[in-house]
Amino acid sequence: MIQDPRKPCIVGNWKMHGSRDMITKLVVEIVAGSASITDIEIVLCPPLVYLSFVENELREKKCKDHIQVGAQNVYCEQEGAYTGEISPLMLSDIGCHYVILGHSERRQFFAEDDNLIARKFIAAYHAALTPILCVGETALEREQGKTFEVVSRQMQAVFELAPLEALQKAIVAYEPVWAIGTGLTATPDQAEEVHSYLRSWIAKKYAKLANRMRILYGGSVKAENAKGLFAKANIDGALVGGASLSPKDFLNICENAVVRV
Ligand code: PGA
Repeated sequence: MIQDPRKPCIVGNWKMHGSRDMITKLVVEIVAGSASITDIEIVLCPPLVYLSFVENELREKKCKDHIQVGAQNVYCEQEGAYTGEISPLMLSDIGCHYVILGHSERRQFFAEDDNLIARKFIAAYHAALTPILCVGETALEREQGKTFEVVSRQMQAVFELAPLEALQKAIVAYEPVWAIGTGLTATPDQAEEVHSYLRSWIAKKYAKLANRMRILYGGSVKAENAKGLFAKANIDGALVGGASLSPKDFLNICENAVVRV
């Protein structure tokens, strides 16, 4: 039997929440509570201004072997006159290893299109970051039966530009827009349907990669629904928004991650 090499990954996306005080407490509790949770990758994505601070805390507490930091966004150039932007090399430089790309809030509120996201993906790869590529349909697109069409288009833009080595490093997150921050979670079956579609879509291009690529689910993941989602064969972890701000809930989600051997 071929060993399943997909290590579960739980990403906490803190979005634009927090303060030094609140984040200090959050990190202390997550570090303490995750000591016994082994064999999974935990990634904390604080707002950018706190990224270095969180990275420092994790390093001082010597837990960077199982908890890493990630950014919520990055620019597609490494350097230059781009006032207000942050480059992938800068993230790498401060000990950040992951970056969320193409989150629906970036697509919706900041007009990020498929091409820009693909360019960010390549730039992140060149700076040795692991891109966490978000794809997902809106409620209307789902109603119109366009879910597969939308996620394929979002994936295709990246697969067209990215070399295989870049894709091998990446993580995909299926995040139905209608489930983000709404309390409406996709049922395990609804999520699995899209995850398995995505894996077969990848397999048509790169069979081996399809087996290895981690596909996380995101959209109102909570302690109560994590177990059911993680029981599905193609769900390799979660991208958690709201619940990642509560150490108890976040740790509970981490505890439910299924290590497949
Ligand atoms: P949510 O957010 O868990 O609050 O729905 C998920 C996300 O936006 O990544």
